[in-house]
Amino acid sequence: MAHLQINPSLLSTLKDKVVVLTGGATGIGRSTVRLFHQHGAKILFGDVADAHGLSLETELGNNVQFLHCDTTKYADQLRLFEEAEKKWGKIDIVVANAGISLPRDPFAVGEDIETEFSTAEIDVNLKGPLITSRIGLHFLRKNGRNGGDLVLVSSIAGWKECTGLVAYTASKHGVIGIMRGLHLSAVKEGVRINVVCPWMTKRNLPENEPGDVGKAILLCATANRVAEKEGHGGAVAPFAGKIVWVAGGESYEIEDNLQRLEPKWLGERNSEVLRMGQEFLMSEGTSWDTGKVKAKL
Ligand SMILES: NC(=O)c1ccc[n+]([C@@H]2O[C@H](COP(=O)([O-])OP(=O)(O)OC[C@H]3O[C@@H](n4cnc5c(N)ncnc54)[C@H](O)[C@@H]3O)[C@@H](O)[C@H]2O)c1
Repeated sequence: MAHLQINPSLLSTLKDKVVVLTGGATGIGRSTVRLFHQHGAKILFGDVADAHGLSLETELGNNVQFLHCDTTKYADQLRLFEEAEKKWGKIDIVVANAGISLPRDPFAVGEDIETEFSTAEIDVNLKGPLITSRIGLHFLRKNGRNGGDLVLVSSIAGWKECTGLVAYTASKHGVIGIMRGLHLSAVKEGVRINVVCPWMTKRNLPENEPGDVGKAILLCATANRVAEKEGHGGAVAPFAGKIVWVAGGESYEIEDNLQRLEPKWLGERNSEVLRMGQEFLMSEGTSWDTGKVKAKL
């Protein structure tokens, strides 16, 4: 685990960068829009909470634009990106932040099994970021060698047990799945994908302010924009395919050790077989033809 610390001088690289962000009207997204704006970026953000979105746009002025966008609707998200490109000519940073959590637990004792339950958390928290990632990658690719950054907001529920939040937990595990499914090919095209996992805010535990998560998002969005020795404290370059856990206002990278220690927790032999399988799959596209894999092993 690496304790990450922002190198403030890197935040100046945000000047005139164009950011597209979802769920920016309230909470973490709103704080993140403010932080990007404070460091000179131009931001187009979408949300379904129109009044809050418009008030932030009015408050921050010319370099910030709000658009109504329901992230579960492909056309809404496409419009968000097209508007940003039309207005500022390019897109450098994409943040998939919009998310919901429903209070009702459809798995609870006494729930009426005849009544269909809501899968809105899957739609907003997983389908939404999947759409953001597809469209985002398309626009970030246009920067060629300058590349771009895609930051996905998951949760502590993205990698840990969370009782009573089954669909939310599944959706946030899925967000990490988007990164793991996309990052190896994206990084070859200069697009870095990282995931931020905020800790749930609970009493008697170290609390996050929305701005602490916003800072972790900015850290991911700027980590690759200078030489390694000038990077953020603790950030191993290239900063891509990382998972940043935010707890008590601090950021910690947790994916590198999981990968590094794989032979320990999976076993040396299993890890080696897996490595060969991965090598095979990476060398010949994404074929999951088990016959071919066995022949090679
Ligand atoms: N606050 C926490 O403790 C915490 C912990 C872990 C993860 N997260 C994650 O952080 C992200 C931000 O959460 P937050 O705490 O700021 O919550 P929030 O409710 O304050 O903000 C979420 C924003 O997303 C918007 N939104 C909801 N559905 C949408 C849709 N279909 N299309 C567009 N926008 C939509 C909401 O209107 C809201 O502005 C979420 O993905 C959430 O799951 C938050």
